[in-house]
Amino acid sequence: MASTEDKEASKEKASSWKDSIYNPRTGELLGRTASSWALILLFYLVFYCFLAGMFALTMWVMLLTLDDYVPRYRDRIPNPGLVIRPNSLDISFNKSDPLKYADYVKNLETFLQKYNETQQQVNDKCVPGDYTVQDDAEGMLKKVCPFKRSLLSFCSGISDTNFGYHEGKPCVLLKMNRIIGLMPHGDPYVNCTVKKDNPVQMHYFPKEGRFDKMYFPYYGKKAHENYVQPLVAVKLLLTKEDYNKELAVECKVEGSNLRNNDERDKFLGRVTFRIKVVE
Ligand SMILES: *[C@@H]1O[C@H](CO)[C@@H](O)[C@H](O)[C@H]1NC(C)=O
Ligand SMILES: *[C@@H]1O[C@H](CO)[C@@H](O)[C@H](O)[C@H]1NC(C)=O
Ligand SMILES: *[C@@H]1O[C@H](CO)[C@@H](O)[C@H](O)[C@H]1NC(C)=O
Repeated sequence: MASTEDKEASKEKASSWKDSIYNPRTGELLGRTASSWALILLFYLVFYCFLAGMFALTMWVMLLTLDDYVPRYRDRIPNPGLVIRPNSLDISFNKSDPLKYADYVKNLETFLQKYNETQQQVNDKCVPGDYTVQDDAEGMLKKVCPFKRSLLSFCSGISDTNFGYHEGKPCVLLKMNRIIGLMPHGDPYVNCTVKKDNPVQMHYFPKEGRFDKMYFPYYGKKAHENYVQPLVAVKLLLTKEDYNKELAVECKVEGSNLRNNDERDKFLGRVTFRIKVVE
């Protein structure tokens, strides 16, 4: 007797559990009727379409306000780093062995290609000593101030195709990283020093190692397509007593408001490289 009762109960339990998935009597699936499910699906469909529409709309408005030419949100203009060519912070060669300095010479020559006369002749005239500020009304493409490699004189690779490496008086080129909108105050120039007792003579090109103001500001890759960074060349007039030693050369941008003594970033407005010439 008791056992049949138990069976009944367990049967009921099983059927109610099954009913909770699909109840054939009411036609409910998971406790809802087909029309209820259809309503829920419709609701979510409309809801997600609405969300997607909102997203697309905000993106579209965002993109409309963005300008390809000018980065819109910049709170402050960063300071530029100083970099050297040849592209090595450890320059070492045998001045009597062209194979040992060929890579440096090639690196310099390749780098200066875009500064060569034919390339730079097309560029506009600018006023030396003045910023070349250009407003948007002048059209989107900004004019470019020419920097001809001949300005680098003995370090231009024109009169001396070995950039002084064969005579043990090598040239190193310096440039500041491009920073959009940067307008350095004062008259930035490069000053290099060698850490040793008696100073090494150096020649700077252009005169006094100056970065002319007319190359600033830079307007960005798109608006200022053919922009060339101004360069400063330093020719290290090493003598016999400087050979066979590793010399640490530090170059800094001085004479302006550009930072050159940041403790955390030792390439901000300065660069240190080693040079070793053997005979
Ligand atoms: C530099 O190169 C010259 C010529 O190849 C060679 O005679 C001389 O020994 C080299 N010097 C050093 C320090 O390797
Ligand atoms: C300048 O560059 C162009 C193209 O790279 C090259 O054909 C030309 O010979 C170069 N001129 C000089 C003087 O280096
Ligand atoms: C270059 O730097 C050295 C060492 O800091 C300094 O003695 C010298 O006066 C500087 N030269 C110029 C032209 O600023």
